[in-house]
Amino acid sequence: MMMQFRLIAVFTACLVGSFVFAQNVPELSGPSPDPMESIPAEPLEQFVTDDVRQMRAYPEQPPVIPHSIEGYQLSVNANRCMSCHRREHTQGSGAPMISITHYMTREGQMLADVSPRRYFCTQCHVSQADTAPLIDNTFTDMSEMGATGAGGN
Ligand code: HEC
Ligand code: HEC
Repeated sequence: MMMQFRLIAVFTACLVGSFVFAQNVPELSGPSPDPMESIPAEPLEQFVTDDVRQMRAYPEQPPVIPHSIEGYQLSVNANRCMSCHRREHTQGSGAPMISITHYMTREGQMLADVSPRRYFCTQCHVSQADTAPLIDNTFTDMSEMGATGAGGN
């Protein structure tokens, strides 16, 4: 009898706990009741294309793309991004050169052109849209946590 009470107590605690800690994530499983049903897609968000390079949230963040990339071909045969961001083209295009890490193989070997593992730019770089975050986020920038920059005084 005592054992059963204990089990029920543990079960209730778990149930309450999962309600308290469950994060309210958006529905990703398709429409209900039939998740396989086709429904009209939501319109795409408006991208921010004001050409202003955004501050990075941390040093190794892939910067977001501050310009339109509509219609830019990015396939095994053509890479439109590289027509501006390749080292040889930056003087004419005014685009920042892909950084040195983009020329490195995973063994750290420097190549003359973009490394295959950095070829498909939009794998890491995304256009910025002005939207609310999907879930709450408590990320705090290092500099807001009291880290002072070198040469700050
Ligand atoms: C017509 C030339 C051109 C093409 C093509 C182009 N870019 Fe750019 N890109 C620029 C310029 C110029 C900037 C500097 C900011 C601005 O003027 O928009 C820039 C900025 C960026 C930045 C921001 C860098 C930073 O430090 O904040 C990223 C990321 C980027 N581009 C990625 C891409 C990707 C990915 C593609 C292909 C899908 C692409 N670009 C195609 C010209 C180009
Ligand atoms: C595997 C992920 C990845 C891919 C693929 C990738 N990048 Fe990046 N990119 C990054 C990261 C991370 C950074 C910031 C740190 C660094 O420079 O490595 C960056 C930085 C940049 C910058 C800023 C350079 C600077 O010195 O300020 C530009 C411009 C850029 N990438 C363009 C591109 C273009 C164009 C492509 C496609 C040819 C591309 N990237 C592919 C991850 C990636």
